[in-house]
Amino acid sequence: MRRKLIAGNWKMNGLLASGRGLARDLAAQLGDQPPACEFLVCPPFHLLVPVAEEIAGSPVLLGAQDCHSAEKGAHTGDVSAAMLADLGCSHVILGHSERRADHGESNSLVRAKAEAAFGAALVPVICIGETEDQRQAGEALAVVGAQIAGSLPQAEGEFVVAYEPVWAIGSGRTPTRDDVGDVHGHIRTLLCDRLGDARGRAIRILYGGSVKAANAGELLGIDQVDGALVGGASLEASEFRAIGTACA
Ligand code: 13P
Repeated sequence: MRRKLIAGNWKMNGLLASGRGLARDLAAQLGDQPPACEFLVCPPFHLLVPVAEEIAGSPVLLGAQDCHSAEKGAHTGDVSAAMLADLGCSHVILGHSERRADHGESNSLVRAKAEAAFGAALVPVICIGETEDQRQAGEALAVVGAQIAGSLPQAEGEFVVAYEPVWAIGSGRTPTRDDVGDVHGHIRTLLCDRLGDARGRAIRILYGGSVKAANAGELLGIDQVDGALVGGASLEASEFRAIGTACA
């Protein structure tokens, strides 16, 4: 059925030497992994080429952390989906809560970016998730539902959903098994309602927020959790590999 995907979001970390070194370690450690899962690394933009060079020939996939919604043009400092594809990316993270907060990204902008990603044959990894206040107010499912309704592309194409509760990111805290299961189950229902059963069931739903080797087995064992989007723990090759091992 759905093969699990373990994706590393390096965020704004790594200079040339350290980024290249991490990618080399990942290629060495993940090259001989049994095919229990797929691995994806998403380094910052300046490391895409060196990381692509280091992981060439390994099963590790390459992704970026954002793209612009336009194909090209007068957008100083931005990067288009086609530019990312040109560098060897297969995936792009979109609508991460840090971009929604730092850059005011709205659901409709995330949708436009996802459609731009389709235009370059990239698979968007679309991030959604509630804040702590929203969870405490009992609004988690409603918030996630509104983000699904507003952020998902309307065009046909393969995409991944990443559920990342904002309060679990970088905090060492994770939701309970039941809470993760409830949200992932809700997302699955919404995907099937929107896309029909066959397509809705084929979409992978990742969990993100303080995933590490020590809790990966438990989180990845929850119904409808099809992988993980990993921040801090993706910056160490052995820890990232151990998260993948938990898939088996
Ligand atoms: P942490 O794994 O560091 O909590 O970050 C999660 C995340 O934001 C991945 O996109």
